Order: sequence, then structure tokens, then C-alpha cells
Amino acid sequence: MVKKTARPPFDMAAEDFRSLGHGLVDRIADFLERIPHNPAAHGLTPEEARARLGQGGLPETGAAPGDLLERAADLIMTGCRINGHPRSWGYVIGTPAPLAMLGDFLAAAVNPNLAAWSSAPVPSEIEAQAVRWIAELLGYPANCGGILTSGGNMANFIGLLAARRARADWDIRSKGLAPAAGKMRIYATRETHTWLEKGADIVGLGTDAIRWVETDGDLRMDPRDLRARIAADRVAGEKPFLLVGSAGTVSTGAVDPLPELAAIARENGLWFHVDGCYGAPAIADPGAPADMQGLREADSLAVDAHKWLFVPLEAGCALVRDREGLRETFKFAPPYYHFGGKAGDTVNYHEYGPQNSRGFRALKVWLTLQAAGREGYRKVISGNLEQSRIMYAALGADPEIETATQSLSIATFRFVPKTLDPAKDGERLNALNAALLTRIQTGGEAFLSNAIIEGQFYLRACITNFRTTEADVRALPEIVVRVGREVAAGMGGNGP
Ligand SMILES: Cc1ncc(COP(=O)(O)O)c(C=O)c1O
Repeated sequence: MVKKTARPPFDMAAEDFRSLGHGLVDRIADFLERIPHNPAAHGLTPEEARARLGQGGLPETGAAPGDLLERAADLIMTGCRINGHPRSWGYVIGTPAPLAMLGDFLAAAVNPNLAAWSSAPVPSEIEAQAVRWIAELLGYPANCGGILTSGGNMANFIGLLAARRARADWDIRSKGLAPAAGKMRIYATRETHTWLEKGADIVGLGTDAIRWVETDGDLRMDPRDLRARIAADRVAGEKPFLLVGSAGTVSTGAVDPLPELAAIARENGLWFHVDGCYGAPAIADPGAPADMQGLREADSLAVDAHKWLFVPLEAGCALVRDREGLRETFKFAPPYYHFGGKAGDTVNYHEYGPQNSRGFRALKVWLTLQAAGREGYRKVISGNLEQSRIMYAALGADPEIETATQSLSIATFRFVPKTLDPAKDGERLNALNAALLTRIQTGGEAFLSNAIIEGQFYLRACITNFRTTEADVRALPEIVVRVGREVAAGMGGNGP
């Protein structure tokens, strides 16, 4: 008798794959269709989340794939914030485009490794084209060097590393920081995202290398203070090497005076890096702040495709004006790699960033860019900018809401019941608004986050969302006041 060979547990018969896949796609299509009618978030305690999973150890034997997929869908569709919800306005989270979801599925099925061009010729060219298109969308030189990353932090780290190598007047890649240890200086404002502190730490400069430049009343970098700090550091024998500007800060969407910062960087021989992770795509809107234009002068630029370019996590992009300089930042030629290909002509991506093996995140980016086109992005991004202005005006028209800032697509505001006076009751208002935020986040009607402005706690709505409608933004004041009153009542009317 012929013994039937068992399939390894990882493989699947084509007919099983087909039926499970169709079932899953149907389930996801229903999920997407129902998103506007379901909560924007499913707030769970750690105990609740763990109870749903059960705390058993690694199963000794395998389970049926269909059951596993069903359970996974049940668990995750009701187990987190729903970033595709039309009222998902917390942090900076882009709505994921359904086409890109399918792209990710396809990418995983073929599973190319984009470390080396020769392993993945067409996928590598797709990444190169996607990077070039992002540069074109932003008006950055299309012949720049660039690479897709896991997200904004990684894209910014690449800018930091490229700057460090380019501006050190010794071979920093082999000698390390020693020749100028404790002297290399970075200039940025405290509104910069924490990637900068993480990066300064990781690359060995230390966070004390960062000079925190003053901001103006709109939380934008003050160029006069910047000039003064650079000059003082030079006199003290320090080595200024990097200026970081923001094309939309994470808290309030402030755009630094980028053209002036570019000029100061040039005059002083500093590398100019722009963090455009959140805001850079706003440049597609003809009405965007004029200062955005300065991002085109940056030596390096970070932008997140998983924010305002509407690609699902994870996808960021680092662009570096000097393409060969980017390669010089990361290139090693190990004896165990013989990939061939002509340098400067084809791209071995392991030479352009910190990763070696790399997945095909480029596919979802490439598909989404084409499905929308420049026109699609311009329309949705302009719409989000306008929605934020409408939201801000509607919030400001309510006597129990105090508005604070509005820039790009971010509005900040707080609930101020008639019984509290902002001049005297700052602490109570902070506690009340923090509790209100938690209630809104767990309630599921909308998802907001917060900003701290001049020490005060504000609610914050950031619209990077192609599903948001004008009716959605106009609904926010009523939600804030209704839930705010409930929270205040629970705290004894005035807060704690
Ligand atoms: C301005 C800015 N820079 C960097 C980041 C970090 O991006 P990521 O979370 O993709 O690493 C963010 C995230 O919100 C951001 O808003």
C-alpha cells in the first residue's frame, strides 16, 4: 500500500487556500462597509484584552487554519482603534486604502526580498518608482536618493545618519564619534517629535547634543534664536552640523519658517533635515502655508506614506538630495554577497538603509499612488485642510469650548464649562479635559488625542482621513459638550 505523504503543517492545498481566502475577503469587505456605523475605537482594559485571548501556552499540536482565521478576525476587528473610521482623528493616522490592503496580501504571497536588486528586479524598480513619485508629489528633486522605511521614525533616523556622515570632517563610519565626542550639535524646537531624541541616543550623540531653539507664539522655530545659538556654539568650539525643521509638528501642525531655515543652514554649512512625516503631503494643496515650499530645499526629508498618503501601516519614506551620499551612509560590501548589478543604475536597497532583508511594502505604496494620482491626493488633502478649518470654527462658536490652535489639519481646543474660569481653574480644567479625552476615546463616537500647549491640556483632532465628511466634523462640538458635561457632573460639577 502506498503511504500518503502528509503535507507539512505550513502548506495549504490550493482549493483550501482559495476558499479560505474568499471567505476572508468577504469578511473584510463587510468590515469595511460597516466601519462608519461601528465604533471608532474599542477601548479594552489589559484584563479584558487578555481574557479574550486566553493565556494558554504554545499549543502542542496544530489547529485548523479556517478556525484560526475566523477567530483572528473576530478578535482584531473589535479589539483596537479603527483607523479607517471617518471620525478617527487621534495622533496622526491615515485611513488605509482598501487597494493597498490587497497589495499587501499580494506582496506577502510572492514574498520578494528587496535587499538586492537581482533577487527582486521588478519589485526593486517598483520601490524606486514609488520613491520617485513621492518626491514628485512633494516637489522634491526626483533624482534624489530614497528608500521606503517602516515609518517616520526610521525615515528621520536615515536623515540624521546621512547628516552625521556628510558633515563630519573625518571618517565617522570607521572612527566613530571620538574625534568630536560631545561636541556635535543639532538644532530643533521642543515641538519636534521624539524621533530626534531617540535618534540622538541611538547614534551615540546623546540627547544633550540637541540645542532646543525657542519658538514664537505659533510654536514655530524662531530664526533669531537659532542664529544666536549657532554663533554661540561656534565661539565655544562646538560643531554645529544639523538643523531640523518641521513641515507640520505632531502636536499642533505648526510649519517652521522653512525657507529661512534653509538659508541659515546654507550660510552655516549645516545639513538641513525636514520632518514632513505628517505635514509634507499638504504641499499638494495650492493653499498650503507658503513656508512649506522650503521643504524642497532640504538635504533630507522624511514623509510617512502611512499617514497622509493613505497607505496601511507600515510605510515611511526617506528622501536624500545627494543620492550617492545616502549610499555612502549605509553601504558595506560583505564577501558573502555577490549581487552584481551596476551601481548607480540599479539599486541594492540594503546599501541605502539600515535594513538587510526587506519586505515589499513598496507595492501598496505604488498601487495607492497610482489609484489616486496627484489629483486624487490634492482633492482629499485640500478637503481635510478645509474640514479642519470648518471644525475649528464650529468648535469656537460653542460657548463651552475654548479653541487654541489650528494649523494644517490639526485643531486643538478644550471643554470649559460655564462654572470654571480658565484664568483661575487651570488645574481643574486639565483634569477635566484629560478625563473627557478618556471618555471620548473609549466611547467610540470619535477618536481624538491631546496636545499640551503652554502647560495646559487640550483635546486635539488631526484629520488625515479620506472618509471624513463635513457632517462628521460639524458633529464634534455637540459630542465634546455633551460628554464634557457628563464627565464634569461625575466630578462634582466643576471637576475635581
Ligand atoms: C511629525 C512627525 N514626525 C515623526 C513621527 C513618527 O512617525 P512614525 O510613528 O511613523 O514612526 C510622527 C508620528 O506621528 C510625526 O507626526
